[in-house]
Amino acid sequence: GRTIAVSGSASGIGKTLAELLRKQGDEVVGVDLRDAEVCADLSTAEGRMQAVAEVLERSGGALDGAVACAGVTGPTPLTVQVNYFGAVALLDGLRPALAEAEAPRAAVVGSISGTQPVDDAVLRACLEGDEPAALAAADRVLAAKQGNRLYPSSKSALAQWLRRVSVTPEWAGAGIPLNAVAPGVVRTPMSAPLFEDEKMFKIMNEAVPMPLNGYADAIVIAEALAWLVSPANSHMAGQVIYVDGGAEATLRGPSV
Ligand code: NAI
Repeated sequence: GRTIAVSGSASGIGKTLAELLRKQGDEVVGVDLRDAEVCADLSTAEGRMQAVAEVLERSGGALDGAVACAGVTGPTPLTVQVNYFGAVALLDGLRPALAEAEAPRAAVVGSISGTQPVDDAVLRACLEGDEPAALAAADRVLAAKQGNRLYPSSKSALAQWLRRVSVTPEWAGAGIPLNAVAPGVVRTPMSAPLFEDEKMFKIMNEAVPMPLNGYADAIVIAEALAWLVSPANSHMAGQVIYVDGGAEATLRGPSV
C-alpha cells in the first residue's frame, strides 16, 4: 500500500480522510495536536520542523502522498499561522520525500471563504513567506475590527501559493501533482457552533449558498481528497476544486 501523511487527522475532514485511506489499504501518518501518529503544533516553526522530521522518519525516505488538512477558523491570527504557514511548511518539508516516490501526490484544503474579502497586507506577507509581517498585519486587521477577514485571507493565500508553486520544477517538474479541494460548509466539529447559533446560521446560509444538496458531511470532502492523492489523478496541477454544493458558481457566476 501507499504511505500518506494527513495533517488534522484527529478530527473532522482529516479524520474521515485518514479512515477512508486506511480502509482502502493505505498507511496513514496522521499529524495533529493530539490523537495522531505525529503529535505536533503546526502553528510554530519548531512544531512544523518536528512534524516534518517525524513523518519522514516514519515514511522511510519516500512518501506517496501528503494532505494538509489541519486548520482553524475564527477571527484570529492563528488562522494565518496554521492554515497558511503550517500547511506550506509541512508540504515544503515533505516535498523531497514525495519526489522519491513512484506516483507522489499532494493536496491542501482551501475553502469557499477564499472567495470572500481578504486583507491585502496579510495576503502579500503570506505569499512573501514573511510570517512576522503577516502576523503584524493580522494584528492591525484585528485592531481595525476586521478579524473576519483573517480566515478568508489565510485560505486565499494558500490557494494563491498553490497556483504559483504547483507548476514549478519542484512540484510539477518533479512529477508531483499539487491541488486543492475547497469545501463549502461541511458538518464537522469546526462548523458545529455555526449550526447551534441561530444568528450565525442565518449569516452562513446567505454567505454560502449551496443549491446542490446543502450542507455536506466530511466524507464528501474526504472522497475528493482521496482521489487527488490517488494514482488515478495523474494530470492535474494547480487546481482549486470547489466541492461546495454549487456555492462558488453561485457567488462568482459564469465567468471562469
Ligand atoms: P476540525 O476542527 O474538525 O479539524 C481540524 C483539525 O486540525 C483538528 O483535529 C485540529 O486539532 C487540527 N489542528 C488545528 N490546529 C492545529 C495545529 N496548530 N497543529 C496541528 N493540528 C492542528 O475542522 P474541519 O472542519 O475538519 O476542517 C479541516 C479543514 O477543512 C480546515 O483546513 C478547514 O479550514 C477546512 N474547511 C472546513 C470547512 C467546514 O465547514 N468544516 C469549510 C471549508 C474548509
